[in-house]
Amino acid sequence: MLFYTDYSLETLNTFNVKAKADIFIEITSAADLEGYQRRKKYFDLPRLILGNGSNILFTKNFQGAVLKNSIKGIEVVSEDNEKAVVKAASGEDFDTFVQFCAKKRFCGIENLSAIPGTVGAAAVQNIGAYGQEASQTIQEVEYYNFETAKIETIAAKDCKFEYRGSIFKTDLAGKVFITAVTFCLSKNFTPCTEYGKLQELLKDTPIITPMIMRRVITTYRASIIPDPKEYGNAGSFFKNPVITEAAAKKILAESPELKTYPADKGKVKLAAGQLIDLCGFKGANEGKVGTAENQALIIVNLGKATGKEIHTFANKIAKAVKEKYGVKLEPEVTIV
Ligand code: EPU
Repeated sequence: MLFYTDYSLETLNTFNVKAKADIFIEITSAADLEGYQRRKKYFDLPRLILGNGSNILFTKNFQGAVLKNSIKGIEVVSEDNEKAVVKAASGEDFDTFVQFCAKKRFCGIENLSAIPGTVGAAAVQNIGAYGQEASQTIQEVEYYNFETAKIETIAAKDCKFEYRGSIFKTDLAGKVFITAVTFCLSKNFTPCTEYGKLQELLKDTPIITPMIMRRVITTYRASIIPDPKEYGNAGSFFKNPVITEAAAKKILAESPELKTYPADKGKVKLAAGQLIDLCGFKGANEGKVGTAENQALIIVNLGKATGKEIHTFANKIAKAVKEKYGVKLEPEVTIV
């Protein structure tokens, strides 16, 4: 295992911003994690686990050790007529895993096509799109526990999955390194089409298979989300705000045009993209930073913006939304 110092992260984050790590370590196995833990001088430093860098904004250098997750492998653990249990290493690209499953007609994650990031991040974030969430098919998560120095597993029901969140962002944050995620997928395909936009996209498609769903969604996402190789971005910059029904009632009395979605009991979800759009920020830009032309929720690096410039622009957007609607936008991306 190699330990690099003063390592550039510029090509390892999809905002394409300049940043360095004091120490950089590529993790390819659980044995590497043990090796890292034994090197006390590195283990005692602040730690950052990096997947594909598609949900992170570096506003400064990382003064500590960056652990790049490169643990690979996909294995069908068991299969019968009804379901397939598939274990994917945490450093696998999530979309590669979705393709693997869709091709085999293992169903339940095809709507999560073309989401950037790793399998491990999919569990941490409980990624979701077009009516599916990773937590609906995750069976268990395996991790290396830095407190016990052992590999352990946690059942999905104990992962405290919620909208873009899990136990890995709370109780277990900083304490574990996810090594693999096991999914239980159905072999009977029922297309999940309740998301309004999907019905529109599929209206001329008489036969839907997991691979067709995957193609339709991949094409649609490519039409709204700029290619990070061209314009650095991390997908949605903010989470959709979840507020109380009482607060929503007040806001809707003044702004009935706002979209609402069901959330946990007594709560309502608003569309962050719409709030930002209505504050005049869709396709807006300030110097080297802007929002996507078709999706105000996506902040893009239009040139050689720094992480700080992107962060300043994001704060400006959040302030405008707060002033106009009294709603606080929380970043979906991790800000370092
Ligand atoms: N809207 C606007 N203006 C905009 C953007 C959106 O009016 O500039 C409206 C849309 O018309 C729509 C509503 O807001 O009625 C919601 O927009 P959209 O369907 O695009 O979805 P979203 O809530 O903005 C979420 C996820 C996306 C995911 C899509 C599809 C979050 C933070 N984002 O976006 O996930 O792809 O739903 O399910 O929950 C990501 O997390 O990076 C991501 C791309």
